[in-house]
Amino acid sequence: MRPKAELHCHIEGAVAPELARAQAEKYGVDLTGVLDGEGYVWRDFTGFLACYDRVAGLFRSEEDYALLAETYLTGLAEAGAIYSEIIVSPDHGARVGLGPNAYLAGLAAGIGAARDRTGIEGRMLVTGIRHLGAEAVVAAARFAATRPHPLVTGFNLAGEERFGRVADYARAFDIARDAGLGLTIHAGELCGAASVRDALDHVRPARISHGVRAIEDAALVERLADEGVVLECCPGSNIALGVFPSFAGHPLRALHDRGVKVTLNSDDPPFFHTSLAREYAVAAEEMGFSRGDIDGMTRTAIEAAFVEPSVKARLLSSL
Ligand code: ADE
Ligand code: ZN
Repeated sequence: MRPKAELHCHIEGAVAPELARAQAEKYGVDLTGVLDGEGYVWRDFTGFLACYDRVAGLFRSEEDYALLAETYLTGLAEAGAIYSEIIVSPDHGARVGLGPNAYLAGLAAGIGAARDRTGIEGRMLVTGIRHLGAEAVVAAARFAATRPHPLVTGFNLAGEERFGRVADYARAFDIARDAGLGLTIHAGELCGAASVRDALDHVRPARISHGVRAIEDAALVERLADEGVVLECCPGSNIALGVFPSFAGHPLRALHDRGVKVTLNSDDPPFFHTSLAREYAVAAEEMGFSRGDIDGMTRTAIEAAFVEPSVKARLLSSL
């Protein structure tokens, strides 16, 4: 199996249905309207976020989060991944009464257990939740800036992209940048090219989470290529959410061919009936990428990883 790497997966979005059922049983939670025989139940992005929050609420202790991270990363390694960055949300821990340090300690234990079992390297990107407002995102950035755990290496902004303006969150990113964290931000998913331009101007991130709607503006695509900003592309997520109608109509190919650095990611895999392995398979089988192109995306992911240089060098040499 050829190696894979992932830069963009929300850990609360990586809960396999069988794990959700086991957690629901543990806490006596009724999953009607959340999970049925077909999978997670949602109709649009707003419904997806609501469903995601309900599933996150099934994880209430350090041990629950350790189990989630270990389960996800072990499965990912079995599918060929050597590296994974998970997006973690202390705000979701807080909702179930779990303090941010306990939340991270649980996830870190799971990352360590998966590494011991399979060799996969994992890192965590703390995220702010955009629709909780700028002050909540500043609080998340302040927490991340304390460098609460050595496996926390970056900062992201997720949630409802149509809420507020990128500039409202610039201060949070300044705090994270000053602390030496790697920066990435959700943009160009639900909003158009202007959101990607705003992200570049106000946040100056090394990477953009999605960013694919940059395709609506040729000059912006050229800027992304010139500046070497890496896009964490999640085609299966985009199709499931209706951002693009089909894999054939997805801009991954055009962005790649115009010199933008792109990578393959699963976002919230079971919510979107996908997995990292499926994203790799779809890129080859439905989007016409060669084996060399796809290996190049894996290399791009490791090169853009928010990980110490010594680990990065070891991962690159294993490709
Ligand atoms: N949180 C979890 N998945 C997300 C996505 N695809 N976009 C924005 N926020 C998210
Ligand atoms: Zn995402």
